[in-house]
Amino acid sequence: ARQPIIAIDGPAGAGKSTVARQLAQQLGLLYLDTGAMYRAFTWYVLSQDCDPADEVAVAELLSKCTIKLTATPSEQTPQPPEVWVNETAVTQAIRTPEVTANVSTIAAQGAVRQALVKQQMQYGLAGGVVADGRDIGTHVFPNAELKIFLTASVEERARRRQRDLAHQGQAIPELADLAQAISERDHKDSTREISPLRQAEDAIEVITDQLTIEGVLDKLSALYQEKV
Ligand code: C5P
Repeated sequence: ARQPIIAIDGPAGAGKSTVARQLAQQLGLLYLDTGAMYRAFTWYVLSQDCDPADEVAVAELLSKCTIKLTATPSEQTPQPPEVWVNETAVTQAIRTPEVTANVSTIAAQGAVRQALVKQQMQYGLAGGVVADGRDIGTHVFPNAELKIFLTASVEERARRRQRDLAHQGQAIPELADLAQAISERDHKDSTREISPLRQAEDAIEVITDQLTIEGVLDKLSALYQEKV
């Protein structure tokens, strides 16, 4: 029998990746950051000077782009996975505002989703995975043992993003601009035709506005012990 799978979906900036990778470490499971895969392919499309809205040209690039994510090493503070496109390390490059602004356009395209979901399903064949994204519980791993829908208000997510940027020593955009960018991405992700962002029927909603990361982790560990 395969090992358990935990699916964590939700809107942009709800803290999915931080929580998913720490939970994976606690439970000794692998962390699969599916957003990093859409970002990596978006980075590649932009690097080829291809118009992200040109579906035919974008689809042609799929066969030329090999995406690799390293498994999370077991350290005290787990880092985001290292991401490679062909022979190029893109771990930081996939987090730029330019990639973020274009990723939802590319992630809405059928050929792109088909290719990346196939790779994700292969990664999860043996189980033992915590995966985060938008369609994990609804589409990629519909048989996941535990499904979480992690949300927070747009205002709270914008404040957290502002704090993250400050910590990284980066320029700090206006709160209203961050909130608008987050809302736009959520809108695109939840209104696209193919596997839009939505809560699976059997997912448990966790609203994180009033919770610390530790608080969210405690809640998810408890749910895991209860259900798995
Ligand atoms: O999670 P993250 O913000 O890195 O995801 C970036 C983008 O990738 C999302 O806004 C969405 O457009 C796309 N995505 C997706 N399906 C997933 C994960 C991410 O469409 N499972």
